[in-house]
This record gives sequence, structure tokens and C-alpha cells, in this order.
Amino acid sequence: MNAIDLLKADHERVKDILARLSESTERALKKRTELLGKLETEISIHTRLEEDILYPAFKQAGSKEQDVMYFEAKEEHRTVDSLVLPDLKATDPGTPEFAGRVKVVRELLEHHIEEEEKEMFPQARKLLGKATLDELGKQMENLKGKLKKEMATEHIAA
Ligand SMILES: [Fe+2]
Ligand SMILES: [Fe+2]
Repeated sequence: MNAIDLLKADHERVKDILARLSESTERALKKRTELLGKLETEISIHTRLEEDILYPAFKQAGSKEQDVMYFEAKEEHRTVDSLVLPDLKATDPGTPEFAGRVKVVRELLEHHIEEEEKEMFPQARKLLGKATLDELGKQMENLKGKLKKEMATEHIAA
């Protein structure tokens, strides 16, 4: 699969988890915790694929406009990974506060995904070309496999 198709497939999974989290109720404690765990795994792998593989190639192939887009996207990742998700994880899933925070995470991520799909990815397609995107897709599949394995081992160790 080429790099962009692979990332878009991840986006669909993330959006689906977010929709299910939004629809869940305060009584569905187990479901909320489970969905949040899934969201965290998906996002942490996806962010690595973008920041280690696609973003640097995009930045290198582009000029100033792509530089700005690169830093904006990384800042959005940081907001979700370091601020918003940890707060959500620390929130009791049986409270309205949890639902409020889910709403913010969903808005941030959907905005970020839309910018990637409407702005960055079309530009990346032009700048990088098919052969490179195929090659980056392979690298992503390898990294994804490796990260999943690492996470499984950590899970057993924990
Ligand atoms: Fe991203
Ligand atoms: Fe993304």
C-alpha cells in the first residue's frame, strides 16, 4: 500500500473509534476504557509513521510553505499526545467531564486529519511521486509491525 493510502486507512479507524467514544454513555465504563486504549495505540503508532517517515520526506521535498505545514502538524500531534490524551486518560469515564474531553479530542483530531488529507497529502503526492510513496509505504508497514510487536511485549512485561 502506498504511504498516503496507508495513513488514510489509519485515519478512518481513528475516526471510527472517536465516533464510538462520543456515542458511549457514562454507564459504559468498560467500553469507554477499552475504546480509549484502542485510540491511544492507534494514535501512537500513526504519529510515529508520520513523524519518522512521511513528514521528513515532505519537508525535505518542499520549501518554506511545507516547512510551516510540517511544524503546525507536529504541534498538533504534540497537543494531542502530551496534553489532551493524558488528561482524558486521567478522567473518570463515569463523568460528564469525560464526555466533554472526548469532544475536544475529537474536534482536534478531526481538524488535524482534514488538514492532512486536504492540504498536506495532496502536496506530498505531487512533491514525492508514486515510486517514493510506494517505498515510504513499505517502510511504514515495517515500522508498524515492529511497533506493534514492541507494544505486545511491553504488555506482557507489564
Ligand atoms: Fe498527523
Ligand atoms: Fe494523520
